[in-house]
Amino acid sequence: MTQSIDTMTVRDAIYGRCSVRAYAPEQKIDQLTLSTLLAAAVRAPTAMHGEPWQFVILQDADVLKRLSDRAKELFSAEAKRLHHDRSSLDIFSQPGFNVFYDAGTLVVICAKTAGHFALADCWLAAENLMLAAYAMGLGTCVIGSAASALNMPDVKHELGIPPETTAVAPIIVGKPRGEALPSARNEPQVLAWR
Ligand SMILES: Cc1cc2nc3c(=O)[nH]c(=O)nc-3n(C[C@H](O)[C@H](O)[C@H](O)COP(=O)(O)O)c2cc1C
Repeated sequence: MTQSIDTMTVRDAIYGRCSVRAYAPEQKIDQLTLSTLLAAAVRAPTAMHGEPWQFVILQDADVLKRLSDRAKELFSAEAKRLHHDRSSLDIFSQPGFNVFYDAGTLVVICAKTAGHFALADCWLAAENLMLAAYAMGLGTCVIGSAASALNMPDVKHELGIPPETTAVAPIIVGKPRGEALPSARNEPQVLAWR
């Protein structure tokens, strides 16, 4: 049972949230919980009240596995082209590696317009969703490595994403297995304070 969104201070949510990469097996997020997360997502600020976001929710294990395989292939090819450190890409060639860390739910925040700030709006919605999930005892992680696969024309067609819509922020959600701890940050660099 997912806990209520109302149990945590903003401070605890912001400072406690971290990417979760291990999930309890066979845990699908229920409809009410997902509705709560999406409702929090769409409270994000949005340029000129554009609300460009649309959502795809994937919970079918076969669909997620096929998408993960496609993402591994595309992401490692792209990363090699961009000369990323090859050792960090080794994991993408491991047959057992799932880019979604076997989470039961993937929420993809999509932008239905190519407006100037549509991507910013979607990422703001993403953070709202992740903080709300954390407050409800759920883990999340942005899976940027799946974005290219989600934007392939055949994948968009299969998932019902219109051609003019862009998949922006893929976020896994699930019940964490074990404890994940927040990682350190550098001090904010203030460039000007006049
Ligand atoms: C745009 C974006 C793309 C990301 N893509 C991935 C990814 O493909 N796989 C992954 O495991 N984590 C991914 N992450 C999570 C980051 O690695 C993580 O946020 C960062 O290391 C900071 O850790 P924290 O989220 O625990 O604070 C992504 C995060 C962002 C913001």
